[in-house]
Amino acid sequence: MDAIVVMGVAGCGKTSVGEELARRLGWQFLEGDGFHPPENIAKMSAGIPLQDEDRWGWLDTIAAHIALAREAKAPIVVSCSALKRRYRDRLSAGGTRVLFVHLDGSRDIIHARMALRAGHFMPTTLLDSQFAALEPLESGELGIVCDIDSSPAEIAARVSARIASVA
Ligand SMILES: Nc1ncnc2c1ncn2[C@@H]1O[C@H](COP(=O)(O)OP(=O)(O)O)[C@@H](O)[C@H]1O
Ligand SMILES: [Mg+2]
Repeated sequence: MDAIVVMGVAGCGKTSVGEELARRLGWQFLEGDGFHPPENIAKMSAGIPLQDEDRWGWLDTIAAHIALAREAKAPIVVSCSALKRRYRDRLSAGGTRVLFVHLDGSRDIIHARMALRAGHFMPTTLLDSQFAALEPLESGELGIVCDIDSSPAEIAARVSARIASVA
């Protein structure tokens, strides 16, 4: 495995769970939001959903980090919404081995968590567009779905227990 991408809509817990999972595995954690160009952050902050054209460069940057992790034989955990199948294919372009962990939860729970989150650029008004864009993992993909009903540490523990069977 070259990388685990913790995916899902805004507010599902990618950063929280990704950090816990990386700590558990002793892998480096990369915050996918950190690779957005300023224009993307400005759009989202203004409540404007990103389009595919806005996302390709961002996804390619993350894919390049995954390729570097493969070369270094030092796998990483990355938080990245990876909402669509073609985004996920782009992240593993070049044949890297990427496991997707989809953090799945109801709109109501995620909306409530987002509303409590302070100091983040993503407004709750974008949540519906995130769910509309979301394409669940397909059978041909390397991925697992994890419910967000427990704490980030518990979710990370569950994920790491399940990794062995898919790695
Ligand atoms: N499993 C969880 N249980 C309770 N609160 C959570 C959980 N995961 C995340 N949170 C909280 O929900 C909010 C969104 O989580 P975050 O990790 O920032 O999501 P994302 O990175 O997917 O946008 C944060 O305030 C975070 O502390
Ligand atoms: Mg995040």
